[in-house]
Amino acid sequence: MSGIIKLLSDAVANQIAAGEVVQRPSSIVKELLENSIDAGATHIKLLIKDGGSTLVQVIDNGKGMSETDARLCWERHATSKIKKAEDLFSLHTYGFRGEAMASIAAVAQVEMKTRRHEDELGTFIRIEASECLEQNICSAPVGTSIAVKNLFYNIPARRNFLKSITVETKHIFEEFQRQAMANPQIAFSIIQSKSRSIRLSNSILERKNFGCTG
Ligand SMILES: Nc1ncnc2c1ncn2[C@@H]1O[C@H](COP(=O)(O)OP(=O)(O)OP(=O)(O)O)[C@@H](O)[C@H]1O
Ligand SMILES: [Mg+2]
Repeated sequence: MSGIIKLLSDAVANQIAAGEVVQRPSSIVKELLENSIDAGATHIKLLIKDGGSTLVQVIDNGKGMSETDARLCWERHATSKIKKAEDLFSLHTYGFRGEAMASIAAVAQVEMKTRRHEDELGTFIRIEASECLEQNICSAPVGTSIAVKNLFYNIPARRNFLKSITVETKHIFEEFQRQAMANPQIAFSIIQSKSRSIRLSNSILERKNFGCTG
């Protein structure tokens, strides 16, 4: 007798699992900043637009990724941070699940440029709803830039549940400050598409008015 249980496709499974990781734009900020910190970055720049619902971009000068890793990092359970179960008892990184990038790519339009110090050229990759649409070699500075555009563009019900730009921006600033305060050795900066910009450099907080970017 045939049953009624079906295995979900990877794309649907990723979308469901993304609900755990990505609740709002500030969740993306948290995951991307943590990845940049884990990558050994000393400078991390965050750009946001419309409370992060249109754009969250993190640019770091960390160790970057090889061409192969640039593709693999978007797969679920793909991580460079643990290899075996015992490693869970001696974690020294923020991330270890290999979930964040796969979840983000399932619910947004993503573009990444990355290059390692030892490589002459970098990798550009474009992913939408878990599907890799483009991968090319490109010129890029050492480090990684990830732009997450139009969060929940493929899940209108969840997009409608986002709060106002002001509220989502407040959540992002709180997350940004939490990470910056915990890592005073890293120079953080944040640029909002409208006007306000904050630079946190070695724990010194500066507030400046910047022109429009992003
Ligand atoms: N900014 C970055 N610079 C260099 N490597 C990165 C960067 N972001 C992600 N990676 C690589 O991609 C892998 C997957 O990232 P992802 O955030 O999905 O998983 P994770 O950080 O290992 O675990 P978690 O899901 O708990 O965050 C990382 O393990 C890391 O090797
Ligand atoms: Mg991570």
